Order: sequence, then C-alpha cells, then structure tokens
Amino acid sequence: MWNFFTGSKIIAKGKNVNIRTVNIFDYKFFAKWFNNIEIMGNAFGIIADDKYVLKVSKEYLKEITDTPSNTFTIVSKTNRQLGVIRFSIKGTNTLYATLGILFGENRFLGKGYGTEAMFLVLEYFFSKRQLSYIELDTAVFNERAQRTFKKCGFKDMGEFQEVDYRTGNILYKVLMRVEKDTFLNLLETYKSRYFED
Ligand SMILES: CC(C)(COP(=O)(O)OP(=O)(O)OC[C@H]1O[C@@H](n2cnc3c(N)ncnc32)[C@H](O)[C@@H]1OP(=O)(O)O)[C@@H](O)C(=O)NCCC(=O)NCCS
Repeated sequence: MWNFFTGSKIIAKGKNVNIRTVNIFDYKFFAKWFNNIEIMGNAFGIIADDKYVLKVSKEYLKEITDTPSNTFTIVSKTNRQLGVIRFSIKGTNTLYATLGILFGENRFLGKGYGTEAMFLVLEYFFSKRQLSYIELDTAVFNERAQRTFKKCGFKDMGEFQEVDYRTGNILYKVLMRVEKDTFLNLLETYKSRYFED
C-alpha cells in the first residue's frame, strides 16, 4: 500500500530507470531541480527571464505538493531521483490522460532515459489503467522533447498558440497524441529494449 510519508510503490521497471509513486523525500530534489532555468523553460515552453521561470516553477512545486497522487518519480535502478512525471486522468466514457515529464539535471538528459520512462508509463496507462489515448503539448522550439515523444508513438496533432496569462506573451506549442493501439503495436517491437527482463 502506498504511503506518501513512509514509502513508495514501483509502477514499472525498465532497463535503466524505474517509475514509482512520489514520496516526501523526493521534494528536496524537486525543489533543487526547479531552479534550473533551462530545464524549466523547456518544460513549460517558455523563454523568459529567470525570475519569471522560477515563479512558475514554484507554482508547479505547490501543484505537486497539493496532488501527489498525480505524480510519479523517475528513479535510477538504485532508486536515485532523476525526474518527474505529472499526469491527469480525464474523460467519462473515453478515458485519457494528459502528462508532462522532466529530468532534473542536465547530466540526466540525452541518455535515452526519457524514451524509456515514457515507454514504461505509457504501458502502465494503457495496459493497467485502460486509457484510450494520452495527450501532451510541448513548445514548438522543444525539438528534443518532440523527437522523444515521436519515438514513443506520439503523433503531431497540430500547432496552436496560447497566451501566457502571467506575462501576456504568446506561447507557440504543438499538441501530440498517442493512441492505445499505436503504442501497443510499437511495444511489441521495443519491449525487450526498454523493460526489465
Ligand atoms: C524531454 C526529455 C524528457 C527527453 O528525455 P531524454 O532522456 O533527454 O531523451 P532521450 O535521450 O530518450 O531522446 C532524445 C532524442 O532527441 C534527440 N535530440 C536531442 N536534441 C535534439 C534537438 N535539439 N533536436 C532534435 N532532436 C534532438 C536525440 O538525438 C534523441 O533521439 P534519437 O534517440 O533518435 O537520437 C528531457 O530531455 C527533459 O527532461 N528535458 C527538459 C524538460 C523538457 O523539455 N520536458 C518536456 C516538456 S513537454
């Protein structure tokens, strides 16, 4: 049984990373990571001054604190905190989720962890939680994220613009979606690459 204060439950095991529920010890890592302007700017799709990015990061930390059950921590095989996944399950007849992912330090990026973590979490949502599709959006400028998501079966659903209510700036974003069948087909090919034996 998951307990926020005393422990956490492993959701999925990969070759290099595991996905687990969040616990109270993770927060000091989140607080540290969320000071990384470059990572947070990419995560939120904003190019802005440091003060502004830190303000948005602070709000994000509060969101995680308020709704820990919508958060997974990405950890190494030795349970070292590497990153975070936030999700929200939506819909009535057709269930789907929106999600976001980030790794906390520059040295964790570009090692294939993001692709692996997405495979693990998508398999969990599609096989165990019976969702129909997963959606996310990312900044048009965030080509690394788009490439990562495409490797996991996400399709480009088109670009859109969003006004950032805090600054009035226009954010240029791309909506991406992966359907259950598409992902499960892809999984047949890649399961042995990303999942623990
Ligand atoms: C986005 C993120 C989760 C991806 O995880 P990752 O572990 O870095 O990604 P991977 O190493 O699995 O894959 C990255 C892919 O993008 C490619 N890539 C890297 N930089 C790129 C760029 N500038 N343009 C296009 N592709 C790029 C890599 O070559 C790799 O593709 P390949 O395997 O075909 O060579 C991670 O980089 C991250 O946390 N970034 C900061 C926060 C963020 O942007 N979050 C997403 C918000 S929606």
